[in-house]
Amino acid sequence: MLRVLLFTFCLLSFSLSAQAADAARGKVVAQVRCMPCHHLNTLLPGIGPGLKGIYGRAPSISGIPFDVWDDTALNVWLSNPRAVKPNTRMVLPPIAARDRADIIAWFKSVKDEK
Ligand code: HEC
Repeated sequence: MLRVLLFTFCLLSFSLSAQAADAARGKVVAQVRCMPCHHLNTLLPGIGPGLKGIYGRAPSISGIPFDVWDDTALNVWLSNPRAVKPNTRMVLPPIAARDRADIIAWFKSVKDEK
């Protein structure tokens, strides 16, 4: 019995930490890659709009062919903003797929923070 419990506990803590690690890493990457232009924890505009609560909300800018910033929309946008909106002012050097995934995981993990 104890063995089963221990095993379950290990599985659980492993999956929790794997998930937390991605979001935690995403926060660091976002701080470096997005921070120069965006406030990440407020709605105050920088060079670009504030990104607080961005995951799951509608775009605040024009010309975005998505109703809501979900995984797909954010991933497509961060892969190449110009391919989504040719005249966008968001200039973003290429970001690795893992970095995009971690940033999105972080946005998701803080989406309900007030
Ligand atoms: C060089 C400055 C710059 C950098 C770096 C930058 N952005 Fe932007 N971002 C902008 C600008 C400017 C806009 C508004 C674009 C427009 O109106 O077309 C924008 C818009 C956005 C939007 C749409 C916001 C909304 O309210 O609909 C998202 C999401 C976004 N950026 C995410 C990011 C993320 C995530 C990063 C980091 C990986 C990042 N940006 C890096 C300048 C930047």
